[in-house]
Amino acid sequence: MTDPQLVLAARVQQALGTAFGQEYSGEDPLIRPSQFADYQANVALSLAKRLRRAPREVAQALVDALDTTDIRVEVSGPGFLNLTLDDGWIAAQADRLLGDERTGVPQPAPKTVVIDYSAPNAAKEMHVGHLRTTIVGDTLARTHEHLGDRVIRQNHLGDWGTPFGMLIEHLLDIGEEESLERLAAGDGNAFYQEARRKFDSDPDFEERARRRVPMLQGGDPDTLRLWREFIEYTQRYFNRVYRQLGVTLTDDDIAGESMYNPMLTDVCDELEHAGVAVMSEGALCVFPPGFTGRDDQPLPLIIRKSDGGYGYATTDLAAIRYRVRDLKADRILYVVGATQSLHFQMVFASARMAGWLTDEASAEHVQIGSVLGSDGKMFKTRSGESVKLTELLEEAVIRAEAVIADRGYDAATRRSIAQQVGMGAVKYADLSVSHDSEYVFDFDRMLALTGNTGPYLQYATARIRSIFRNGSIDPATVSGPIVLGEPAERALALQLLGFGSVIESVAELSEPHRLCNYLFDVAQAFTSFYESCPVLKAENESVRQSRLALSALTLRVLLQGLHLLGIEVPERM
Ligand code: ARG
Repeated sequence: MTDPQLVLAARVQQALGTAFGQEYSGEDPLIRPSQFADYQANVALSLAKRLRRAPREVAQALVDALDTTDIRVEVSGPGFLNLTLDDGWIAAQADRLLGDERTGVPQPAPKTVVIDYSAPNAAKEMHVGHLRTTIVGDTLARTHEHLGDRVIRQNHLGDWGTPFGMLIEHLLDIGEEESLERLAAGDGNAFYQEARRKFDSDPDFEERARRRVPMLQGGDPDTLRLWREFIEYTQRYFNRVYRQLGVTLTDDDIAGESMYNPMLTDVCDELEHAGVAVMSEGALCVFPPGFTGRDDQPLPLIIRKSDGGYGYATTDLAAIRYRVRDLKADRILYVVGATQSLHFQMVFASARMAGWLTDEASAEHVQIGSVLGSDGKMFKTRSGESVKLTELLEEAVIRAEAVIADRGYDAATRRSIAQQVGMGAVKYADLSVSHDSEYVFDFDRMLALTGNTGPYLQYATARIRSIFRNGSIDPATVSGPIVLGEPAERALALQLLGFGSVIESVAELSEPHRLCNYLFDVAQAFTSFYESCPVLKAENESVRQSRLALSALTLRVLLQGLHLLGIEVPERM
């Protein structure tokens, strides 16, 4: 164990058991960073009430029972335990990390983790909300994979349902070739809106669109062909966005709504036979306990409408069953907008009633907050249309180019750095706020070279690379030993030891912003170190070796961390 917080927590728990009996050894020691020591443990205060003893007395009993190998402890204030790790211990752990190619990231027993993310609608434009679910989901996928889990990506495309009736008719009206070109160019949203307008204003069109739906569902060959083309050309656009972003999704990960169509009848039958679904006012419904609507009436999850049609919820139930039974998921993560919270709660509750979700197979909604424009409303272009993502990403690159314009690079180098910086900025902005909070999309802020931004971290990383370049040293060959003389060296080393547990907590809690905050702290600790401790010009060879080792370790943590966030780092910046 290298994470100092975990090491200290284990020690204090041991002391709790020794001092007050084994029943207390499971108590949370409440380890927090401290101003006066490396950490403090606050457990004595919470325990004192229950033990009916003075907090300082409880704290002293813990000190007396504590194994103080490698640590110093004192009671402070009303009963905090101030805990400080020995420099020698920190240095030895840092040396170990340097020799460990996983840099302290554990490999726990692998699980099968299904991650449902991105999931744009083929019938509509992919919007910034989908960009965010794509980016957050991709980081979770990378992180679980790095921990050794078997990750199955599922891109639950909106590629089925009644809108396709009207879309196909519109496509025929405009002409196949022109329509498909527009879809591949990312014009899907305007296309959808045109169709919608006609549907609402032209009874003849409405009639044709309605007749098209059963033809699609019934497998009419011509209709299916047009539908397939529609999807295929839209997917080309999605793929362009994925490639531009550098996300790991491929066509193999597509498992759209249409895939579940053949399973829906059977899903409804199974639920009805099991008594989970019942007929209510002509519709087949599940009434999961605890959900009520107006007048405290039980709220139905409708799985077959009175006209026999199936909806979004039916498809999601089929998807859960498939993911548990066929994909053998231990854990299913739904990286989807927070606005769908009630839908997922009801779907999950129904799937538990059906016995598909159990203690062994869980589902979680990783709620994604909305991305807003500077006016605080849903993000739109100035003219009020929704934004084409390829254009948005292209703009990020152009703006990033302006940020580095004065660095004297030739055009090609500038372009490639700008590509990495632009995408890094957009991704980091999505990842660094907690996934369920809203945030304002703001190019100037995300592209800033200072503060908690992607470009700042890329810059900090590139700067460490330049130390090694200037010294003609390969960071992979640096081996220490690390010796901690200066406070800034000690602070940096202590920070680096936490890498493995941050990665674990990102996976456990589905919270990539923890990794962002951690890497930001690392970069700042490195900056303080670099300001006060010369590396290449250190006072003697052993100090130089130690500082090179600290720099190499920092570089690795930043590179591995940013890689998990899907962010590339330019060689120089
Ligand atoms: N296509 C949906 C949307 O854009 C998201 C689908 C999320 N995944 C799911 N299994 N329902 O809102």
